[in-house]
Amino acid sequence: MGQRLTIEGGFKLNGTVEAAGAKNAILPIMAASLMLDGTTVLKNIPYLNDVSIMLRMLNALGVRAEYRIGDEIHIVNTKKIRHIAPYDLVTSMRASFFVAGPILAKVGFAKVPLPGGCSIGARPVDLHLKGFEKLGAKISMEHGFVQIECKQLIGDRHRLDFPSVGATENLMMAACLAKGTTVLENVAREPEIEDLGNFLIAAGAKMEGLGTSTITIEGQDTLKGIPSYPIIADRIEAGTLLIAAAITNGDITVNNIVLPYIEPLLVLLEKTGCTVERFENSVRVKGNGRPKAVDFTTEPHPGFPTDMQAQMMALLSVAEGKSIIKENIFENRFMHVRELMRMGANISIEDQIAVVTGVEKLSAAEVKITDLRAGAALILAGLVAEGSTTVYGLKHLKRGYYNLPKKLNNLGAKIIE
Ligand code: EPZ
Repeated sequence: MGQRLTIEGGFKLNGTVEAAGAKNAILPIMAASLMLDGTTVLKNIPYLNDVSIMLRMLNALGVRAEYRIGDEIHIVNTKKIRHIAPYDLVTSMRASFFVAGPILAKVGFAKVPLPGGCSIGARPVDLHLKGFEKLGAKISMEHGFVQIECKQLIGDRHRLDFPSVGATENLMMAACLAKGTTVLENVAREPEIEDLGNFLIAAGAKMEGLGTSTITIEGQDTLKGIPSYPIIADRIEAGTLLIAAAITNGDITVNNIVLPYIEPLLVLLEKTGCTVERFENSVRVKGNGRPKAVDFTTEPHPGFPTDMQAQMMALLSVAEGKSIIKENIFENRFMHVRELMRMGANISIEDQIAVVTGVEKLSAAEVKITDLRAGAALILAGLVAEGSTTVYGLKHLKRGYYNLPKKLNNLGAKIIE
Protein backbone atom coordinates (compact mmCIF):
# COMPACT_ATOMS: atom_id res chain seq x y z
CA MET A 1 0.00 0.00 0.00
CA GLY A 2 3.06 2.27 0.16
CA GLN A 3 3.53 5.20 2.52
CA ARG A 4 0.60 6.34 4.62
CA LEU A 5 -0.58 9.13 6.92
CA THR A 6 -3.17 9.40 9.70
CA ILE A 7 -5.48 12.36 10.23
CA GLU A 8 -7.27 13.17 13.50
CA GLY A 9 -10.55 14.78 12.36
CA GLY A 10 -12.50 17.63 14.00
CA PHE A 11 -10.09 20.57 14.08
CA LYS A 12 -10.80 23.96 12.48
CA LEU A 13 -8.02 25.21 10.18
CA ASN A 14 -7.02 28.86 10.48
CA GLY A 15 -4.12 30.99 9.27
CA THR A 16 -2.14 32.11 6.24
CA VAL A 17 -0.36 29.90 3.69
CA GLU A 18 1.35 30.16 0.29
CA ALA A 19 0.77 28.02 -2.80
CA ALA A 20 3.95 26.57 -4.37
CA GLY A 21 4.90 26.81 -8.04
CA ALA A 22 2.35 25.16 -10.37
CA LYS A 23 3.20 21.58 -11.40
CA ASN A 24 1.20 21.92 -14.62
CA ALA A 25 3.17 25.01 -15.62
CA ILE A 26 6.59 23.65 -14.59
CA LEU A 27 6.32 20.45 -16.67
CA PRO A 28 5.63 22.00 -20.12
CA ILE A 29 8.10 24.82 -19.39
CA MET A 30 10.83 22.28 -18.58
CA ALA A 31 10.03 20.52 -21.88
CA ALA A 32 10.17 23.86 -23.72
CA SER A 33 13.66 24.50 -22.30
CA LEU A 34 14.90 21.80 -24.74
CA MET A 35 14.45 24.37 -27.53
CA LEU A 36 16.39 27.18 -25.78
CA ASP A 37 20.11 27.59 -26.50
CA GLY A 38 22.20 28.36 -23.39
CA THR A 39 21.27 28.32 -19.71
CA THR A 40 17.82 28.70 -18.18
CA VAL A 41 17.00 29.06 -14.48
CA LEU A 42 13.45 28.31 -13.29
CA LYS A 43 12.36 29.60 -9.88
CA ASN A 44 9.55 28.78 -7.42
CA ILE A 45 9.92 25.05 -8.08
CA PRO A 46 8.62 22.69 -5.33
CA TYR A 47 10.15 19.23 -4.84
CA LEU A 48 7.61 17.09 -6.71
CA ASN A 49 8.00 13.54 -8.00
CA ASP A 50 6.71 14.60 -11.44
CA VAL A 51 9.35 17.35 -11.63
CA SER A 52 12.05 14.80 -10.77
CA ILE A 53 10.83 12.56 -13.61
CA MET A 54 10.97 15.48 -16.07
CA LEU A 55 14.50 16.29 -14.84
CA ARG A 56 15.51 12.71 -15.62
CA MET A 57 13.87 13.09 -19.04
CA LEU A 58 15.83 16.26 -19.88
CA ASN A 59 19.11 14.64 -18.81
CA ALA A 60 18.28 11.53 -20.86
CA LEU A 61 17.84 13.80 -23.89
CA GLY A 62 21.30 15.29 -23.44
CA VAL A 63 20.50 18.45 -21.49
CA ARG A 64 22.13 19.09 -18.08
CA ALA A 65 19.26 19.83 -15.71
CA GLU A 66 19.23 19.75 -11.92
CA TYR A 67 17.49 21.05 -8.80
CA ARG A 68 19.57 23.75 -7.09
CA ILE A 69 19.41 25.11 -3.53
CA GLY A 70 16.07 26.47 -2.49
CA ASP A 71 13.52 26.23 -5.21
CA GLU A 72 15.45 26.54 -8.46
CA ILE A 73 16.06 24.32 -11.47
CA HIS A 74 19.13 25.03 -13.62
CA ILE A 75 19.05 23.79 -17.23
CA VAL A 76 22.15 24.00 -19.40
CA ASN A 77 21.30 23.24 -22.98
CA THR A 78 24.01 22.02 -25.26
CA LYS A 79 23.31 22.54 -28.98
CA LYS A 80 22.60 18.87 -29.65
CA ILE A 81 19.67 17.02 -28.03
CA ARG A 82 18.82 13.36 -28.55
CA HIS A 83 15.59 12.53 -30.35
CA ILE A 84 14.43 9.39 -28.55
CA ALA A 85 12.47 9.80 -25.30
CA PRO A 86 13.04 6.83 -22.91
CA TYR A 87 10.11 4.40 -22.61
CA ASP A 88 10.21 4.07 -18.82
CA LEU A 89 9.98 7.82 -18.26
CA VAL A 90 7.18 8.54 -20.74
CA THR A 91 5.08 5.67 -19.44
CA SER A 92 5.61 6.70 -15.81
CA MET A 93 4.40 10.23 -16.43
CA ARG A 94 2.07 11.21 -19.27
CA ALA A 95 3.30 14.81 -19.23
CA SER A 96 6.65 13.55 -20.59
CA PHE A 97 4.90 13.55 -23.99
CA PHE A 98 5.34 17.34 -23.88
CA VAL A 99 8.92 16.76 -25.11
CA ALA A 100 7.59 15.64 -28.53
CA GLY A 101 6.98 19.18 -29.86
CA PRO A 102 10.32 20.62 -28.72
CA ILE A 103 12.36 17.66 -30.04
CA LEU A 104 10.51 17.75 -33.38
CA ALA A 105 11.04 21.51 -33.72
CA LYS A 106 14.69 21.40 -32.65
CA VAL A 107 15.91 18.13 -34.22
CA GLY A 108 13.40 17.41 -37.01
CA PHE A 109 12.73 13.87 -35.81
CA ALA A 110 11.16 12.73 -32.53
CA LYS A 111 10.64 9.18 -31.32
CA VAL A 112 8.39 9.16 -28.24
CA PRO A 113 6.60 6.18 -26.66
CA LEU A 114 2.83 6.46 -26.65
CA PRO A 115 2.04 7.60 -23.08
CA GLY A 116 -0.08 5.06 -21.25
CA GLY A 117 -3.50 5.91 -19.94
CA CYS A 118 -3.88 6.34 -16.22
CA SER A 119 -6.56 5.76 -13.60
CA ILE A 120 -8.60 8.75 -14.80
CA GLY A 121 -8.80 7.81 -18.46
CA ALA A 122 -7.29 6.49 -21.72
CA ARG A 123 -5.69 9.89 -22.37
CA PRO A 124 -4.89 9.59 -26.10
CA VAL A 125 -2.61 12.03 -27.95
CA ASP A 126 -4.44 12.12 -31.31
CA LEU A 127 -5.01 15.90 -31.05
CA HIS A 128 -1.27 16.46 -30.59
CA LEU A 129 -0.43 14.33 -33.65
CA LYS A 130 -3.08 15.93 -35.87
CA GLY A 131 -1.54 19.33 -35.12
CA PHE A 132 2.00 18.16 -35.88
CA GLU A 133 0.78 16.79 -39.25
CA LYS A 134 -0.77 20.17 -40.06
CA LEU A 135 2.65 21.74 -39.52
CA GLY A 136 4.12 19.31 -42.06
CA ALA A 137 5.21 16.36 -39.92
CA LYS A 138 4.96 12.71 -41.02
CA ILE A 139 3.65 10.43 -38.25
CA SER A 140 4.28 6.68 -38.01
CA MET A 141 3.96 4.11 -35.26
CA GLU A 142 6.60 1.48 -34.56
CA HIS A 143 6.84 -0.90 -31.60
CA GLY A 144 4.75 1.40 -29.38
CA PHE A 145 6.75 4.47 -30.31
CA VAL A 146 5.28 7.45 -32.18
CA GLN A 147 7.78 8.61 -34.82
CA ILE A 148 7.27 12.26 -35.83
CA GLU A 149 9.42 13.49 -38.71
CA CYS A 150 9.82 16.86 -40.42
CA LYS A 151 13.10 18.54 -41.35
CA GLN A 152 11.46 21.97 -41.19
CA LEU A 153 7.99 22.64 -39.77
CA ILE A 154 5.92 25.12 -41.79
CA GLY A 155 3.45 27.42 -40.04
CA ASP A 156 -0.25 26.95 -40.84
CA ARG A 157 -3.74 27.62 -39.49
CA HIS A 158 -4.98 24.72 -37.30
CA ARG A 159 -8.18 24.35 -35.28
CA LEU A 160 -8.11 21.88 -32.38
CA ASP A 161 -11.14 19.55 -32.25
CA PHE A 162 -11.15 20.03 -28.46
CA PRO A 163 -9.30 22.59 -26.29
CA SER A 164 -6.78 20.02 -25.02
CA VAL A 165 -4.24 21.51 -22.59
CA GLY A 166 -1.40 19.21 -23.61
CA ALA A 167 -2.06 19.43 -27.34
CA THR A 168 -2.21 23.25 -27.11
CA GLU A 169 1.14 23.30 -25.30
CA ASN A 170 2.88 20.82 -27.62
CA LEU A 171 1.72 22.72 -30.73
CA MET A 172 2.62 26.14 -29.28
CA MET A 173 6.16 24.92 -28.64
CA ALA A 174 6.57 23.32 -32.09
CA ALA A 175 5.19 26.42 -33.85
CA CYS A 176 7.80 28.68 -32.18
CA LEU A 177 10.54 27.21 -34.41
CA ALA A 178 8.39 26.62 -37.52
CA LYS A 179 8.91 28.68 -40.70
CA GLY A 180 6.27 31.40 -41.00
CA THR A 181 3.06 32.04 -39.08
CA THR A 182 0.94 29.51 -37.20
CA VAL A 183 -2.59 30.31 -36.05
CA LEU A 184 -3.90 27.82 -33.46
CA GLU A 185 -7.69 28.00 -32.95
CA ASN A 186 -9.94 26.54 -30.24
CA VAL A 187 -6.90 26.22 -27.96
CA ALA A 188 -7.14 25.59 -24.22
CA ARG A 189 -6.95 28.75 -22.04
CA GLU A 190 -5.68 27.29 -18.74
CA PRO A 191 -3.42 29.73 -16.81
CA GLU A 192 -0.53 27.29 -17.11
CA ILE A 193 -0.68 27.78 -20.90
CA GLU A 194 -0.32 31.53 -20.40
CA ASP A 195 2.73 30.88 -18.22
CA LEU A 196 4.26 28.64 -20.92
CA GLY A 197 3.55 31.35 -23.53
CA ASN A 198 5.17 34.05 -21.38
CA PHE A 199 8.19 31.77 -20.88
CA LEU A 200 8.55 31.26 -24.65
CA ILE A 201 8.17 35.01 -25.30
CA ALA A 202 10.91 35.67 -22.73
CA ALA A 203 13.08 33.27 -24.78
CA GLY A 204 12.44 35.30 -27.95
CA ALA A 205 9.26 33.72 -29.33
CA LYS A 206 6.76 35.98 -31.10
CA MET A 207 3.26 35.10 -29.89
CA GLU A 208 -0.11 36.83 -29.52
CA GLY A 209 -3.50 35.85 -28.07
CA LEU A 210 -2.40 34.20 -24.80
CA GLY A 211 -5.45 33.63 -22.59
CA THR A 212 -7.82 33.59 -25.57
CA SER A 213 -8.97 30.72 -27.80
CA THR A 214 -6.72 31.75 -30.71
CA ILE A 215 -2.94 32.01 -30.48
CA THR A 216 -0.84 33.40 -33.37
CA ILE A 217 2.86 32.49 -33.47
CA GLU A 218 5.60 33.89 -35.76
CA GLY A 219 8.25 31.15 -36.06
CA GLN A 220 11.85 32.07 -35.13
CA ASP A 221 15.19 30.49 -36.05
CA THR A 222 16.39 30.15 -32.46
CA LEU A 223 15.26 30.73 -28.87
CA LYS A 224 17.65 31.66 -26.09
CA GLY A 225 18.00 30.59 -22.47
CA ILE A 226 16.40 32.73 -19.70
CA PRO A 227 18.58 33.71 -16.70
CA SER A 228 15.65 33.72 -14.28
CA TYR A 229 11.99 32.71 -14.79
CA PRO A 230 9.59 32.45 -11.81
CA ILE A 231 6.75 29.92 -12.29
CA ILE A 232 3.17 30.97 -11.41
CA ALA A 233 1.64 29.69 -8.17
CA ASP A 234 -0.40 26.49 -8.28
CA ARG A 235 -4.09 27.42 -8.45
CA ILE A 236 -5.09 23.80 -7.72
CA GLU A 237 -3.00 23.61 -4.55
CA ALA A 238 -4.37 27.03 -3.54
CA GLY A 239 -7.92 25.80 -4.17
CA THR A 240 -7.28 22.67 -2.13
CA LEU A 241 -6.08 24.79 0.81
CA LEU A 242 -9.12 27.08 0.56
CA ILE A 243 -11.50 24.12 0.61
CA ALA A 244 -9.75 23.05 3.83
CA ALA A 245 -11.15 26.27 5.37
CA ALA A 246 -14.63 25.61 4.00
CA ILE A 247 -14.79 21.96 5.13
CA THR A 248 -13.45 22.56 8.67
CA ASN A 249 -15.44 25.76 9.16
CA GLY A 250 -12.11 27.56 9.49
CA ASP A 251 -10.56 30.76 8.14
CA ILE A 252 -7.61 30.55 5.70
CA THR A 253 -5.84 33.17 3.59
CA VAL A 254 -3.77 31.96 0.61
CA ASN A 255 -1.10 34.42 -0.59
CA ASN A 256 0.66 34.95 -3.97
CA ILE A 257 -2.26 33.76 -6.05
CA VAL A 258 -3.54 35.30 -9.33
CA LEU A 259 -7.22 35.90 -8.54
CA PRO A 260 -8.75 35.38 -12.05
CA TYR A 261 -7.03 31.98 -12.19
CA ILE A 262 -8.98 30.76 -9.18
CA GLU A 263 -12.26 32.69 -9.66
CA PRO A 264 -14.28 29.62 -10.84
CA LEU A 265 -13.67 27.98 -7.44
CA LEU A 266 -14.34 31.15 -5.43
CA VAL A 267 -17.75 31.61 -7.06
CA LEU A 268 -18.72 28.05 -6.13
CA LEU A 269 -17.43 28.37 -2.55
CA GLU A 270 -19.57 31.49 -2.12
CA LYS A 271 -22.60 29.50 -3.33
CA THR A 272 -21.95 26.91 -0.58
CA GLY A 273 -22.24 29.76 1.94
CA CYS A 274 -18.54 30.54 2.57
CA THR A 275 -17.36 34.12 3.03
CA VAL A 276 -14.77 34.92 0.32
CA GLU A 277 -12.60 38.06 0.51
CA ARG A 278 -10.50 38.94 -2.58
CA PHE A 279 -7.32 41.04 -2.22
CA GLU A 280 -4.61 42.17 -4.69
CA ASN A 281 -2.90 38.77 -4.88
CA SER A 282 -4.39 36.80 -2.04
CA VAL A 283 -7.76 35.43 -1.06
CA ARG A 284 -9.40 34.62 2.28
CA VAL A 285 -12.11 31.95 2.75
CA LYS A 286 -14.15 31.53 5.95
CA GLY A 287 -16.56 28.65 6.55
CA ASN A 288 -20.01 29.66 7.84
CA GLY A 289 -21.38 26.51 9.41
CA ARG A 290 -22.46 23.49 7.34
CA PRO A 291 -21.94 24.13 3.60
CA LYS A 292 -24.97 24.27 1.28
CA ALA A 293 -25.29 21.80 -1.64
CA VAL A 294 -24.35 23.17 -5.09
CA ASP A 295 -24.36 21.67 -8.60
CA PHE A 296 -21.37 22.04 -10.93
CA THR A 297 -19.88 20.77 -14.17
CA THR A 298 -16.17 20.55 -14.96
CA GLU A 299 -15.21 22.49 -18.10
CA PRO A 300 -12.03 23.81 -19.81
CA HIS A 301 -10.83 27.09 -18.24
CA PRO A 302 -12.45 29.53 -17.44
CA GLY A 303 -14.97 26.85 -16.40
CA PHE A 304 -14.70 24.89 -13.14
CA PRO A 305 -11.43 22.87 -13.30
CA THR A 306 -11.57 19.07 -13.41
CA ASP A 307 -8.51 19.07 -11.13
CA MET A 308 -10.70 20.52 -8.34
CA GLN A 309 -13.66 18.15 -8.82
CA ALA A 310 -12.61 15.55 -6.23
CA GLN A 311 -11.76 18.17 -3.59
CA MET A 312 -15.13 19.91 -4.13
CA MET A 313 -16.90 16.56 -3.87
CA ALA A 314 -15.30 16.00 -0.45
CA LEU A 315 -16.75 19.34 0.73
CA LEU A 316 -20.20 18.58 -0.71
CA SER A 317 -20.27 15.14 0.92
CA VAL A 318 -20.95 16.97 4.23
CA ALA A 319 -23.18 19.70 2.72
CA GLU A 320 -26.85 20.28 3.51
CA GLY A 321 -28.79 18.86 0.56
CA LYS A 322 -28.11 17.11 -2.75
CA SER A 323 -25.36 18.22 -5.19
CA ILE A 324 -25.10 17.10 -8.82
CA ILE A 325 -21.54 16.92 -10.20
CA LYS A 326 -20.91 16.41 -13.93
CA GLU A 327 -17.36 15.40 -14.96
CA ASN A 328 -17.04 16.60 -18.57
CA ILE A 329 -13.30 16.29 -19.12
CA PHE A 330 -12.18 12.76 -18.17
CA GLU A 331 -14.12 9.55 -18.64
CA ASN A 332 -13.11 7.96 -15.34
CA ARG A 333 -12.49 10.62 -12.75
CA PHE A 334 -14.74 9.33 -9.96
CA MET A 335 -12.25 6.86 -8.44
CA HIS A 336 -12.36 8.82 -5.17
CA VAL A 337 -16.13 8.16 -4.79
CA ARG A 338 -15.66 4.59 -3.57
CA GLU A 339 -13.15 5.72 -0.95
CA LEU A 340 -15.31 8.66 0.21
CA MET A 341 -18.20 6.21 0.62
CA ARG A 342 -16.03 4.12 2.94
CA MET A 343 -16.00 7.23 5.13
CA GLY A 344 -19.81 7.38 5.12
CA ALA A 345 -20.39 9.67 2.13
CA ASN A 346 -23.67 9.09 0.27
CA ILE A 347 -22.87 9.26 -3.46
CA SER A 348 -24.41 7.59 -6.50
CA ILE A 349 -22.90 7.61 -10.00
CA GLU A 350 -24.67 7.43 -13.35
CA ASP A 351 -22.20 7.68 -16.33
CA GLN A 352 -20.41 11.03 -15.92
CA ILE A 353 -22.75 12.31 -13.20
CA ALA A 354 -22.29 11.91 -9.44
CA VAL A 355 -25.19 12.73 -7.11
CA VAL A 356 -23.86 13.65 -3.65
CA THR A 357 -26.39 13.63 -0.80
CA GLY A 358 -24.68 15.47 2.05
CA VAL A 359 -24.38 13.72 5.42
CA GLU A 360 -24.04 15.34 8.86
CA LYS A 361 -20.78 13.57 9.65
CA LEU A 362 -18.15 11.47 7.89
CA SER A 363 -16.51 8.70 9.89
CA ALA A 364 -12.82 7.84 9.90
CA ALA A 365 -11.73 4.84 7.80
CA GLU A 366 -8.70 3.33 6.09
CA VAL A 367 -8.70 4.67 2.50
CA LYS A 368 -6.45 4.40 -0.57
CA ILE A 369 -5.37 7.15 -2.95
CA THR A 370 -6.04 6.25 -6.61
CA ASP A 371 -4.83 9.45 -8.28
CA LEU A 372 -3.30 12.75 -7.33
CA ARG A 373 -6.40 14.90 -6.83
CA ALA A 374 -8.37 12.03 -5.25
CA GLY A 375 -5.62 12.00 -2.62
CA ALA A 376 -6.24 15.63 -1.78
CA ALA A 377 -9.97 14.92 -1.52
CA LEU A 378 -9.45 12.07 0.96
CA ILE A 379 -7.21 14.23 3.14
CA LEU A 380 -9.83 17.00 3.14
CA ALA A 381 -12.47 14.44 4.15
CA GLY A 382 -10.18 13.13 6.90
CA LEU A 383 -9.95 16.64 8.36
CA VAL A 384 -13.64 16.48 9.32
CA ALA A 385 -14.26 12.75 9.72
CA GLU A 386 -14.97 11.54 13.26
CA GLY A 387 -11.90 9.66 14.53
CA SER A 388 -8.55 8.88 12.94
CA THR A 389 -8.44 8.31 9.16
CA THR A 390 -5.53 6.41 7.59
CA VAL A 391 -4.71 7.36 4.00
CA TYR A 392 -2.53 4.96 1.96
CA GLY A 393 -0.79 5.55 -1.38
CA LEU A 394 1.06 8.80 -0.67
CA LYS A 395 3.24 8.37 -3.77
CA HIS A 396 0.31 9.64 -5.88
CA LEU A 397 -0.02 12.69 -3.63
CA LYS A 398 3.70 13.54 -3.82
CA ARG A 399 3.46 13.76 -7.61
CA GLY A 400 1.72 17.12 -7.32
CA TYR A 401 1.71 18.36 -3.72
CA TYR A 402 4.87 19.31 -1.83
CA ASN A 403 4.47 19.12 1.94
CA LEU A 404 0.66 19.31 1.92
CA PRO A 405 0.32 17.56 5.32
CA LYS A 406 2.87 19.97 6.85
CA LYS A 407 1.07 23.00 5.40
CA LEU A 408 -2.24 21.73 6.81
CA ASN A 409 -0.66 21.04 10.24
CA ASN A 410 0.67 24.61 10.29
CA LEU A 411 -2.98 25.66 9.91
CA GLY A 412 -4.13 23.53 12.87
CA ALA A 413 -4.64 20.05 11.40
CA LYS A 414 -3.48 16.90 13.25
CA ILE A 415 -1.80 14.81 10.54
CA ILE A 416 0.93 12.28 11.30
CA GLU A 417 3.05 11.03 8.35
C1 EPZ B 1 -3.62 18.49 -18.39
O1 EPZ B 1 -3.67 17.14 -18.82
C2 EPZ B 1 -3.21 18.43 -16.92
N1 EPZ B 1 -1.89 17.81 -16.79
C3 EPZ B 1 -4.24 17.63 -16.12
O2 EPZ B 1 -3.84 17.68 -14.75
C4 EPZ B 1 -5.60 18.32 -16.27
O3 EPZ B 1 -6.57 17.55 -15.58
C5 EPZ B 1 -5.96 18.41 -17.76
O4 EPZ B 1 -4.91 19.12 -18.46
C6 EPZ B 1 -7.27 19.15 -18.00
O5 EPZ B 1 -7.20 20.42 -17.44
C7 EPZ B 1 -0.79 18.56 -17.04
O6 EPZ B 1 -0.88 19.72 -17.40
C8 EPZ B 1 0.54 17.90 -16.82
P1 EPZ B 1 -6.19 17.44 -21.93
P2 EPZ B 1 -3.85 16.82 -20.41
O7 EPZ B 1 -5.33 17.13 -23.09
O8 EPZ B 1 -3.08 17.79 -21.21
C9 EPZ B 1 -8.81 14.21 -24.19
C10 EPZ B 1 -3.38 16.82 -12.61
O9 EPZ B 1 -4.10 16.29 -11.76
N2 EPZ B 1 -7.73 14.23 -25.21
O10 EPZ B 1 -6.77 18.81 -21.79
O11 EPZ B 1 -3.61 15.39 -20.60
C11 EPZ B 1 -8.33 13.60 -22.88
O12 EPZ B 1 -8.42 12.19 -22.93
C12 EPZ B 1 -3.53 16.46 -14.08
O13 EPZ B 1 -2.53 17.72 -12.36
C13 EPZ B 1 -7.91 13.51 -26.39
O14 EPZ B 1 -8.93 12.86 -26.59
O15 EPZ B 1 -5.42 17.12 -20.58
C14 EPZ B 1 -9.26 14.19 -21.87
O16 EPZ B 1 -10.48 13.45 -21.84
C15 EPZ B 1 -4.56 15.36 -14.28
N3 EPZ B 1 -6.91 13.51 -27.32
C16 EPZ B 1 -9.53 15.60 -22.42
O17 EPZ B 1 -9.16 15.55 -23.82
C17 EPZ B 1 -5.75 14.23 -27.13
O18 EPZ B 1 -4.89 14.22 -28.03
C18 EPZ B 1 -8.70 16.68 -21.74
O19 EPZ B 1 -7.35 16.32 -21.88
C19 EPZ B 1 -5.60 14.95 -25.93
C20 EPZ B 1 -6.59 14.95 -24.98
